Amino acid sequence: MEILGKTTKHSRAIEKRIEELIQEMTVAEKIGQLSLVNSIYGKITKPLRQTIAEGKIGGILNEVDVNVVNELQQTAVEESRLGIPLLVGRDVIHGFKTIFPIPLGLASTWNPEIPERCGRISASEASATGINWTFAPMIDISRDPRWGRIAESFGEDPYLTGVLAKAIVYGFQGDDLSSPGCIAACAKHFAGYGACESGKDYNTANIPENELRNVYLPPFKAAFDAGAASVMTSFSDLDGIPATANEFLLKQILRQEWQFDGFVVSDWEAISQLSVHGLTASDKDSACEAANAGVDMEMVSRTYADHLADLLIEGKISQDRIDTMVSNILRAKFKLGLFDRPYTETSSVNTDKSHEYLEAARCAAVQSCVLLENKHNILPLSKDKLSSIAVIGPLADDRYEQLGTWIFDGDIELSQTPLQAIKAFMKKSAEVNYCRAMATTRSRSREDFGEAVETVRKSDVVILFLGEESILSGEAHSRADISLPGIQNELIEEIAALGKPIVLVIMAGRPLLLEKARKNVDAILYAWHPGTMAGPAIAELLFGIASPSGKLPVTFPRAVGQIPIYYNHKNTGRPATAGSVTNIDDIEAGAPQHSSGDTSFHLDIDNSPLYPFGYGLSYSEFKYSNLRLDHDKIKLGESIRIEVELTNTGECEAEEVTQLYVRDLVGSVTRPVRELKGFKKLRLRPGETASITFELSTDDLAFYGRNNKLVTEAGRFHLWIGGCSDTDLRAEFEIIES
Ligand code: GLC
Repeated sequence: MEILGKTTKHSRAIEKRIEELIQEMTVAEKIGQLSLVNSIYGKITKPLRQTIAEGKIGGILNEVDVNVVNELQQTAVEESRLGIPLLVGRDVIHGFKTIFPIPLGLASTWNPEIPERCGRISASEASATGINWTFAPMIDISRDPRWGRIAESFGEDPYLTGVLAKAIVYGFQGDDLSSPGCIAACAKHFAGYGACESGKDYNTANIPENELRNVYLPPFKAAFDAGAASVMTSFSDLDGIPATANEFLLKQILRQEWQFDGFVVSDWEAISQLSVHGLTASDKDSACEAANAGVDMEMVSRTYADHLADLLIEGKISQDRIDTMVSNILRAKFKLGLFDRPYTETSSVNTDKSHEYLEAARCAAVQSCVLLENKHNILPLSKDKLSSIAVIGPLADDRYEQLGTWIFDGDIELSQTPLQAIKAFMKKSAEVNYCRAMATTRSRSREDFGEAVETVRKSDVVILFLGEESILSGEAHSRADISLPGIQNELIEEIAALGKPIVLVIMAGRPLLLEKARKNVDAILYAWHPGTMAGPAIAELLFGIASPSGKLPVTFPRAVGQIPIYYNHKNTGRPATAGSVTNIDDIEAGAPQHSSGDTSFHLDIDNSPLYPFGYGLSYSEFKYSNLRLDHDKIKLGESIRIEVELTNTGECEAEEVTQLYVRDLVGSVTRPVRELKGFKKLRLRPGETASITFELSTDDLAFYGRNNKLVTEAGRFHLWIGGCSDTDLRAEFEIIES
């Protein structure tokens, strides 16, 4: 209780300091705190310095020169009347100098320790340059791989995203936000951005409230429960009201229901874009809408700076509203300890931890790769049995592209590429023959195919490094066709014709269409964009130093026409069954009109995904047995204990991610056919058996019901356990009325 007392006392002290400060501040100084200004990358212009000295800027973003940051902080603290320090923001998404796998790769680890470590190291590296706030984690549920920003997400599932969000927020913020090396997190983009129509970035999102509450909001609640200090509004128009002016989101959900006490920042110029959406007729109206809806800080656009004072005089915004906005920002600055320690030590003792950080990035990359195919166990390659290896493709030796999207500050000098690592691993024991074959992943030129063919002819095995350059995913980089870009499939076909074993390693920021490729290769290792240590990690996996353990956090479609396709879908009134699916080629000529199969499927493609959520192969084999529940009936408020035996029946030590899914068979609203409710990652030696236990409370089975209130309803449930969302190891239980 003491700790709680201490925290409460600390909170009370902060609130008192905020109140005192608010009393002292002029209207101009208050409005100043609501502005987040883009730095000019290392230059301090006279106007910027002057505005800070007048106390009219609350924060800057995109300044990473520690001396410039200290100078700007000094202007704020020592020249402005009240000496309020600045927030210093930056997109530190999956690393700062040392780059970890993109978030979709971090999610593929199904290991919360990995994003936590990524957050901690990122915060340590970033804070050394004066950054005290990151615009991460991005926790938009993403069911559409056409969307470029799926790369920045933790995938399609609310539970997995929530667990990883908590972990990385803790990594960024630590136990005490004011401790050196910690930075404030910013959960984004609130909310529903990932449902942008046709996967086009910034596009309209229409999400029924029940779906919003059951799918898109839970990860944000998890991030706030973990103490995330801020939240960023989404660019998107949500059901006709852009998130940046959406009172339902920013007041009812965030403040009234969740009691969030952090601050809300708009996305880049999102307030001024309200008039572009057509919600307002002017910047002044936009400022009024956003401020009254609950956006505390304006990123880059100047509508608050230009119009809030007039809106206050005109009575269109209250003094109380402005004071609340300012208080939310000051609270973060106090929690960060900026009033006590506004400057960044530059002469800190050289605690070079780069080796430790690179090791953490390597470990993350090893666990992020997902083995999708391994025909006749071609992998792992045996070093002793190879005399020559062909390493081919535009992503085999590209220190920049392997880092992925959102790596402004990544140090490519640290990058170790797969080609380098394979050469280092093989040493003299085999010849490594390299051919880039394509200038970029988008190339349409066959001019180097001949060299590639020659390279393959003189080699025992081919390792292809293909996929997407980093710029083909991320913000504003959606694709309508998510095939391998350029003529990569043609390259694969030409090499496959030579009859050598082919291992395909893919680096990409999204699921890609792989039907063609997988017919022509023997193994596929999906590495996403694995970051600085891509090389050593991939080499370790290819040569069996480690076994792949990654599992997909997002479904892989067979064709774009299947999108959106995700595992936790509804059953519909006419679900497709194996027997009900008609293949377009089987329909006889002149067929009379009939409701083919009467169920929900496409005539021209297999009804299943290419690879399902939770899928990933290992070099070993795992068997689940003896699934048992301690009760088959429980009352509201009780829990059920689930146990299963997991055995490594293979030849090598490996890790398995045991996943727990449930289905609520009947609800006051229709419920998904499966929902992830737990997972555990375990390493087992060959022959070893472990008992794995889950506790499931009736609260864990709560959902937003017909009146959009959180409920747990009595009724029957199915429960599955296994190494993928399509597992068929099933049990049943029932919640009975108390
Ligand atoms: C961008 C992104 C947002 C990012 C911000 C600052 O437009 O939408 O995720 O944090 O601007 O760079």
